[in-house]
Amino acid sequence: ELGDFPHYMLKEIYEQPEALENAMRGRLDVGDATAHFGGLNLSAQQLRQIDRVIFTACGTSYHAGMVGEYLFEELARVPAEVEYASEFRYRNPPIDRNTLIFAITQSGETADTLAALRESKRMGHTTLAICNVVGSSIAREADGGVYLHAGPEVGVASTKAFTTQCAVLAMLALYLGRSRHLSAAQGEKIIADLQALPDVLRETLRCHDRVKAIAAKYADARNVLYLGRQYLYPGALEGALKLKEISYIHAEGYPAAEMKHGPIALVDEQTPSVFLVPRGAVFDKVMSNMQEIKARGGPVIAVASHGDREVAAVADDVIPVPDVPEYLQPIVTAIPLQLLAYEIALLCGCDVDKPRNLAKSVTVE
Ligand code: M6R
Repeated sequence: ELGDFPHYMLKEIYEQPEALENAMRGRLDVGDATAHFGGLNLSAQQLRQIDRVIFTACGTSYHAGMVGEYLFEELARVPAEVEYASEFRYRNPPIDRNTLIFAITQSGETADTLAALRESKRMGHTTLAICNVVGSSIAREADGGVYLHAGPEVGVASTKAFTTQCAVLAMLALYLGRSRHLSAAQGEKIIADLQALPDVLRETLRCHDRVKAIAAKYADARNVLYLGRQYLYPGALEGALKLKEISYIHAEGYPAAEMKHGPIALVDEQTPSVFLVPRGAVFDKVMSNMQEIKARGGPVIAVASHGDREVAAVADDVIPVPDVPEYLQPIVTAIPLQLLAYEIALLCGCDVDKPRNLAKSVTVE
């Protein structure tokens, strides 16, 4: 089943272009410049009335939910928030009946996410699933939902589930947006961006050799920081989670500008920072955050747009990625971060597919 790959994690990283094709197949409607989903089970009237969305999830799926907040806000103009399922299940937040709740989960068996879904249904809210495993508990118990179609994910570290979750959330935001303010021309542009994505990821995977060389330089770090802003703030959290869970190196993700409010005290010559800094609206802002780290002697690894000289002049090491619109950057930049975690974990002699203390699905509270 592994084919030519030494580990499931690497196989699943390389499967992402195809996983995205499968997640989008039959769902993009060029004619109406929108997306369609077979199993949402929402009437047109319900759809129009939605005025708030809550995502609930754990771990990597929670990070995808954070990307979802930005996507729904920007593309659909619907207020969205994400909450850890383990917190949501014990809260009693005021939620009105035009709020739609999504449980995001690869396995469909995570105990806290399942409990959050049940609690939400008990209160009478429409509760949908964004799920990979067909027929799983969460898929069965939700009022409807969207499958990722990413194929089986065996490695404990979630990879293709994250990128397909982000793509499904983008399609959902397009769908909601088109039932509201989004013009046909804007919808067509989003569809074209999404359709180009599998090939963009094929190109992105070519960074592997560069990432491998960088991993060798930093594999003995004790602490690593991951920094990004806006759509790439959840990207930074996800990069840090990947590194810590499979290499056991302490890693933290932060919104880059938040560093000066405390965490910058951690920076020294032995503490590398991974900056997510492809071109976009906050590029200059992230660059000045990068300068702040350099000024304190911290080594910088930058994930940046191909050929970006401004970044190369400041960063110690650069991982180039193709340019995409900002709302797709979490998907593209996830690839070098997954590869970096994988290569560092291998150098540390860790079992990348089965890290210590962890199971693929967390079925206990
Ligand atoms: O199956 P789920 O998406 O519900 O799992 C949620 C988390 O347990 C999972 O994403 C975990 O954080 C991964 N090991 C991260 O790589």
